[in-house]
Amino acid sequence: MTDARVTVHTEAGIDRIEPEVHGHFAEHLGRCIYDGVWTDDSVDEEGFRDDVVDLLADLELPVLRWPGGCFADDYHWEDGVGPREDRPRRRNLFWGQGREMIPEESNAFGTDEFLELCERIDTEPYLAANVGSGDPQEAANWVEYVNYDGDTELADRRRENGRDEPYNVKYWGLGNENWGCGGQMSPEQYAREYRRFATYVGTQSAHMLDYDLDLIACGFENHEWNHRFMEEVSDPKWGVEFPLDHLTLHHYYGRTMSVPEADEDDYDQFFLEALEIDHHIERLASAINAFSTTRDIGVIIDEWGSWHPEAQGATGLEQPGTVLDALSAAAVLDVFNDHADVMTMSNIAQTVNVLQCLIETQGDDAFKRPTGRVYDLYAPHKGNEAVTTSIETPTREVDDEELPLVGASASVDDDGEVYVTATNLDTRAAHTVEFTVEDATGDDVDATVLFEGQDADLVVDADNADTFAADDLDVSVDGDGTVTAELEPGTVAGISVE
Ligand code: AHR
Repeated sequence: MTDARVTVHTEAGIDRIEPEVHGHFAEHLGRCIYDGVWTDDSVDEEGFRDDVVDLLADLELPVLRWPGGCFADDYHWEDGVGPREDRPRRRNLFWGQGREMIPEESNAFGTDEFLELCERIDTEPYLAANVGSGDPQEAANWVEYVNYDGDTELADRRRENGRDEPYNVKYWGLGNENWGCGGQMSPEQYAREYRRFATYVGTQSAHMLDYDLDLIACGFENHEWNHRFMEEVSDPKWGVEFPLDHLTLHHYYGRTMSVPEADEDDYDQFFLEALEIDHHIERLASAINAFSTTRDIGVIIDEWGSWHPEAQGATGLEQPGTVLDALSAAAVLDVFNDHADVMTMSNIAQTVNVLQCLIETQGDDAFKRPTGRVYDLYAPHKGNEAVTTSIETPTREVDDEELPLVGASASVDDDGEVYVTATNLDTRAAHTVEFTVEDATGDDVDATVLFEGQDADLVVDADNADTFAADDLDVSVDGDGTVTAELEPGTVAGISVE
């Protein structure tokens, strides 16, 4: 019996789903860089992990944020360029590297290595400049080193370091969590610092580059803070327009729920926490709208995902890769689609080994986690026009709130093909879902599903990683574009309909 209905209003467009909404984040933390994308922290050899690079290329990441996170606001980029054997070994003020709390940074992997990685995997780099303990000159110099094509000492230094052509890095974050690890600033203080940095990094360097950079400020889940930041940063007293292209915040969920110990009530709570991102996007967009009458400022969520109690400094923020986490990612990506009118990017934390990574390494093995499979399933949405869906779904009461058990989103490509993703967050029961795609004939329907027959707490490892790949999903199709499918407990479906 049908107990959920998804109606896709193909004529009710929301906006383009920016491909960058499927972006990623890599920090010098635990085994993300060292033993993740780079073989170890040795400074004397080329160390890309080809297996990880291949998996990253396969995921087709649109954008990758680096070097942090909290690490960014104590990072001095000049430590990480030039001959590796000459680079200083420094503290890592916030994190250990590897699975132990050894807070040291070899600087073997620096700017040129990161930008080479981005080219190898065909992804747009997003550099996060140090506002907390750095200064605007250092940040402006970084822009010059990577982007300038002229005849200056810094551009020449890049050439001496093996790179003739400028990298043309477009995305520049100015600070990270400056309400916390990035300097514990008040919103007004950060707004002033932000403008000071933006003056040197963006407005002044633009004429050296003949293109504009996209400047990104870091907000907070406390929306009064964001409101005060926007009020100050946009204040007309400055005399010139405020240089801000995107405002971001971070949303982690699951900090009290250890997956091996959790039960299904905890799962429901976890999904509700994940879905709070909807509220944060709305509140962030409303803080922006309250003050930006002349600028188009996008919403970015440049760190998000599960953070379970297992992920601690002493474990390099590692936690098991489960179906449960992957289901939450699918639900969040659906929310992003519904906010395509304001969302310009998102970056799940983190790319390799850390938190809700997409790729894990175990010794010589590297493999995709279930969350990586979700990104593959959602990939057809990238660049499509998001369209409105109406969803009738059973719900479950969780702490006075209602968890919608079936979620979905939809988009249309340039040829009019509709792509619908749907998640059954109910880990206890299957739900039969009827999808009605307005204006579709149903002549050509293709459906795949993830995680059928796999328990939510199933943990991926090198031996079972292939079992998380998508399978065909059985559907029945009516002539009027109605597709019916049974979604087993804790599964995600991707359905294309013409
Ligand atoms: O992703 C781990 C940490 O979480 C980042 O360094 C920081 O920005 C956030 O608090």
